[in-house]
Amino acid sequence: MKKLYFIAFCTIVPLSLWGQRINFNEHIAPIIHQHCTPCHQPGEAAPFNLITYQDVAKRSNFIQKVTETRYMPPWRADPNFGQFKNVRRLTVGQIAMIRVWISQGMPEGEPEKLVSKPKIGKQSGMSADKVLAWQQAFTVPANNREGYYLFSLPCNFDEDTYIKGIEFVPGNKKLVHHARISVDTTQLLRATNGKSIDDTSIARYGTVKMKEEFIAGWVPGNNAVVYPNGMAKMLPKGSDLLVNVHYAPNNLPNQQDSSVVKLYIAQKPITNPVQTFILHEEHISNQPFEILPDTVVTFYAKTQELPYSISLLSVQPHMHVLGKSLRCYAITPGGDMIPLIKIPQWDFNWQMTYEYAQPLTIPMGSILYAEATYDNTAQNPENYFNPPKKITYGWSTTQEMMNVIFQYVVP
Ligand code: HEC
Repeated sequence: MKKLYFIAFCTIVPLSLWGQRINFNEHIAPIIHQHCTPCHQPGEAAPFNLITYQDVAKRSNFIQKVTETRYMPPWRADPNFGQFKNVRRLTVGQIAMIRVWISQGMPEGEPEKLVSKPKIGKQSGMSADKVLAWQQAFTVPANNREGYYLFSLPCNFDEDTYIKGIEFVPGNKKLVHHARISVDTTQLLRATNGKSIDDTSIARYGTVKMKEEFIAGWVPGNNAVVYPNGMAKMLPKGSDLLVNVHYAPNNLPNQQDSSVVKLYIAQKPITNPVQTFILHEEHISNQPFEILPDTVVTFYAKTQELPYSISLLSVQPHMHVLGKSLRCYAITPGGDMIPLIKIPQWDFNWQMTYEYAQPLTIPMGSILYAEATYDNTAQNPENYFNPPKKITYGWSTTQEMMNVIFQYVVP
């Protein structure tokens, strides 16, 4: 292992660094400020700051470990399977640089060499056209358990309205773990406002498969989702946004959350309406979608042949805690494989939306395939049940899902 890093270091660190000692101000600060500080700063989700020399030196061993294992910065997709614009990965050279700096005793360097400036606070540069908020502050239960709660936010649009962007802004940044926003055109889900997804009255909505269309996912570090020029998502007249928030387990008294969703309205005409397509449990060929105890099982799903070409903007895989890995690709009528996403080690904590570097065109007649593997053994530390139980489809935490959510336009 050591040798490998040495070779990587020799090949990637510029020759000009030879014989020179690596120091924080000149070499390490730019890496930290660009790749770590966006989340590791006051008011953001990460549990401590990574801004100054002291912040970094104090945790250097931990930082070496999480960068070498690629636990941080969080990015769970295979870099060789699909190309994404919001990619968040250190290069092998940057990882080696951190390691060598630590092995050299972490010199701070000359103060005038500290030219890198961390960005503190969000500068989205856009002002929202509409801000939707919780009807009242939500008190997060202090029961030390995972919690999923639904919030229904009426948009009150009296005509179909196109948005060019959407942004989720968590209220309680320490407890809002992730969120999923969909559109409810039925207004029926208003009844779920403020309720836990495990509430028995809600189970019914999952099985009825109410029409609700996914728009955006949020995990810490996400900014606004903004569609490419000319593209926009339609929110039908009278529809509501349904926000499903996962709160982290906690035991803290009186924790309140008031999160908001900001909408950026697009000017008409819209050349390319953004649409959502979900590859899901009903597309599975090896039914039923049941995960028997003490098994590791893979489900295979596929679409019909696409009736026209589509251009994919983003992909978001979704499974619950038994998820182990996932791969998704398209096969064109000519037999070519187009890689769409591969998550070699599913991480329930980082359910990211992966945005394609360029809109990715999938030709007419192609078929989309997904393969998702679940581990329902006692060896899976995330398993809620020991001994393991049979798990079936459902929204609830202790059930499972298999979704690959695409946003696309028809070119
Ligand atoms: C997208 C946001 C984000 C970015 C970017 C990010 N972190 Fe984190 N980091 C988090 C969050 C949230 C946690 C706490 C939850 C967790 O451990 O996953 C965390 C936890 C950590 C931990 C503690 C891990 C543990 O096991 O407790 C370390 C160390 C760390 N980050 C270092 C880094 C370094 C170094 C970078 C840059 C190379 C970085 N992080 C980039 C969000 C981020």
